[in-house]
This record gives sequence, C-alpha cells and structure tokens, in this order.
Amino acid sequence: MKLQTVLSSLCLLALSAHAAPSKRSDPPPTDIQILNYALTLEHLENAFYSGALAKFDDAAFSKANLNRALFEQIASHEAAHVKFLTTALGDQATKPCNYSFPYTDPTSFSALSAVLEGVGVSAYLGAAALIQNKDYLTAAGAILTTESRHAAWVSSSENNNLPWSGPFDTPLGLNDVYSLAAPFITSCPSTNPALPVKAFPALNVTGGAGSINPGSTISVTFANATTAAGSGQLFLAFFSGLSTTFAPYDASKNTVTVPAGLAGTVYAVATSVSNGTVTDDNTLAGPIILSNVGGSGNAGGGAGGSGHSSPSNSASTTGSASNSTNGALGMGAPLTGVAVSLAGLLAALAF
Ligand SMILES: *[C@@H]1O[C@H](CO)[C@@H](O)[C@H](O)[C@H]1NC(C)=O
Ligand SMILES: *[C@@H]1O[C@H](CO)[C@@H](O)[C@H](O)[C@H]1NC(C)=O
Ligand SMILES: *[C@@H]1O[C@H](CO)[C@@H](O)[C@H](O)[C@H]1NC(C)=O
Ligand SMILES: *[C@@H]1O[C@H](CO)[C@@H](O)[C@H](O)[C@H]1NC(C)=O
Ligand SMILES: *[C@@H]1O[C@H](CO)[C@@H](O)[C@H](O)[C@H]1NC(C)=O
Repeated sequence: MKLQTVLSSLCLLALSAHAAPSKRSDPPPTDIQILNYALTLEHLENAFYSGALAKFDDAAFSKANLNRALFEQIASHEAAHVKFLTTALGDQATKPCNYSFPYTDPTSFSALSAVLEGVGVSAYLGAAALIQNKDYLTAAGAILTTESRHAAWVSSSENNNLPWSGPFDTPLGLNDVYSLAAPFITSCPSTNPALPVKAFPALNVTGGAGSINPGSTISVTFANATTAAGSGQLFLAFFSGLSTTFAPYDASKNTVTVPAGLAGTVYAVATSVSNGTVTDDNTLAGPIILSNVGGSGNAGGGAGGSGHSSPSNSASTTGSASNSTNGALGMGAPLTGVAVSLAGLLAALAF
C-alpha cells in the first residue's frame, strides 16, 4: 500500500469514533455540551474514588495488597479535573449527581477502577473530534493522557494485567460512553443542563466457562432482539483500537462467536449492520466491555510489586442491566472475588 493511501486511511480511521453519531441526528454538540459531558464523567470518577477512600482505610488496602497512596493521587487528579472543568464552564457547569458503585472491598474497587479509567480514555478519545476550540482540545488532551496513565497503572500494578490493549486505544461515541456510565448514576440535580446523550438498551452477556476468547461462543441477550431479528440478520460489532469487527448474531440461540484476532479490552454493541459504520441509529444495545480477550494479559507482577489477582477475562456490563455468570462480569453485580482484567495483546488492525 502506498504511504499516501496508508496515511489517508489512518486519518479517516482516526477521525471517527466507533458508534459515531448518525448524520440524521441533531446538530453536533457544542463545546459547552462536550465539556459538560466530560464534567459528568469526572464527577462520577471523583465520587467513585472519594467514596472508596472514605470507606476503605489503610489496613483494608494493605490486606488486599493494594497501594492506597496511589489511589489517593488518582482521586486528587479527578477532583482537580472536576475543579478545572467547573471553573471553565462557570455557571453553565453541570453539578454532581448521586451514584451507586458496586464495589464491596478494595479488590473489587480496584478492578472497577481499571474498567472506569479505560472507559474514560475512550470517552475523551471519542469526543476529541467533536471539540471545536483548539484550546479546549489541548486541555481535554491533557486530561486524556493522564486518564490513560491511571488506566495503565491500575491495570498493571494493581490488577496484574498489561497496561494497554495494543498500539491503539478505542474511541467511543458519546452515547456508548453514557450507556456505560448511566447505570452508576442514581439521581441528578434537576437544574443540570440536559446533555445530548442517551443510553442504549443493555446487552446481557454470559460467557463460556470463564473465558471469552476468539472462537468462543458467548450468550448474548438484549431487549427486543427477536423483533429486530425479524427484519434482518443482526450482528455484534466489536470495537478494538481503530478497527470494528462484525460477527453474526444467532437470534434463535442468542449466541455470538467471538471473532478471531481480538485481544485485550474490546467493546461490543448489537447492531443491524455488518459493514460500513456503526452509528447511533443502527445500534440496538450495548456496549459491553470484554476484558482481557484472548487472555495472556498478565503483566507479570507489575511495577508496584503487588500482583495479587490472577488475570481472568470477563465481560463487564453495567448497572442494573447486567446479568452475568461464568467469565462474564457485570459491573452492576457485586465484584467480590472476581478479577477484572482490562489489558491484553495487540488489537487486530485491518488497514
Ligand atoms: C442525593 O440523594 C440524597 C439522599 O437520598 C437526596 O437528598 C438528594 O436530593 C440527592 N441529590 C441529587 C442531586 O439527586
Ligand atoms: C438483562 O439482565 C437484566 C438483569 O439481570 C434483566 O432484568 C433483563 O431482563 C435482561 N434482559 C434481557 C433481554 O435478557
Ligand atoms: C421493546 O419494544 C417495545 C414495543 O415496541 C417498546 O415499548 C420498548 O421500549 C422496547 N424496549 C427497548 C429496550 O427498546
Ligand atoms: C454490506 O452489508 C449489506 C447489508 O448487510 C450487504 O447487502 C452488502 O453485501 C455488504 N457489503 C459488503 C461489501 O460486504
Ligand atoms: C441471568 O442469566 C442466566 C443465564 O442466562 C439466567 O438463568 C438467569 O435467570 C438470569 N438472571 C436474571 C436476573 O436475569
């Protein structure tokens, strides 16, 4: 392939978040809306860390062989992000909501932290192309890289997995991210500005015997799947790095075979298309987070010397919508004793 072609494919890929807003939808969000979307996520992260640190003391973290001091630093970063965005937005800034997180101990908190930081990275990455003002873009980039360090450190040092999925992180659209975040939000001030986001119906996954690997068959259900399947073949779209891989959904058995070549953290949505672009209009349910697809996510003890949890791959769905057994881990279900692995090997790239 000629360099020019490679570069232009790269640019096209890099410019589109998975599950991009559909062209038919409302005008693109304004910068104020994007900043409030970011602040919505930062409020959530801030509450997530401050809540856990208030609940679990040094002894609890030590017992779990986890580094509380570094989680304190992450907590202070998230608080600083909230302050920064709140100051930038002034009286237009959205206020914190009430949240419910399913952690029950430092171990389940740490596992969920790795998942949330990864979603944070995908959120900023997916929103980048929508930001008009270059100064805001730089500020968002400065937060993005920091969230990425959080994700890497929590994954490797605290959860004993690779700090990345491969050479590219995965940009996610606003509605996909909101679908992942919404189940943790229980109520918000009525005065908060409305955001141009909606949550998709839940995708329920039950894994096969504790492992979700390329070639394995997973059970997948979502609302109205049978009705939707009546109008044509449905698919699961797997977002990995800058690539999307499609697999047919067997609506009679509620199963999907995980495509070859996927590794690390992979997001999946149910969709009615098998090629072209997954948009908000053709997304039927999801996303779910498939963690450590393909296994081999072991970072080998990690920088902090903790390495207390064995890697296991899993699917994370969110909040009340989750229903998981075996290797599929629901973020809304108690995480006790279950290792979430976020990292893996190379993402499959099809340039
Ligand atoms: C949060 O929950 C408390 C206690 O239920 C309630 O009083 C308060 O109004 C809620 N705040 C928001 C922002 O929903
Ligand atoms: C998904 O799981 C939730 C929670 O267990 C359940 O209430 C819901 O009915 C499930 N939906 C489908 C379509 O299986
Ligand atoms: C499923 O279909 C019914 C009937 O059309 C509709 O009322 C309901 O909102 C749909 N559920 C979801 C989650 O889309
Ligand atoms: C793309 O998908 C449509 C509908 O699913 C199908 O008719 C068409 O043949 C596909 N094109 C390619 C190149 O696979
Ligand atoms: C969760 O899924 C399992 C397996 O499909 C099913 O047996 C169980 O009833 C489901 N539980 C809920 C609460 O939906």
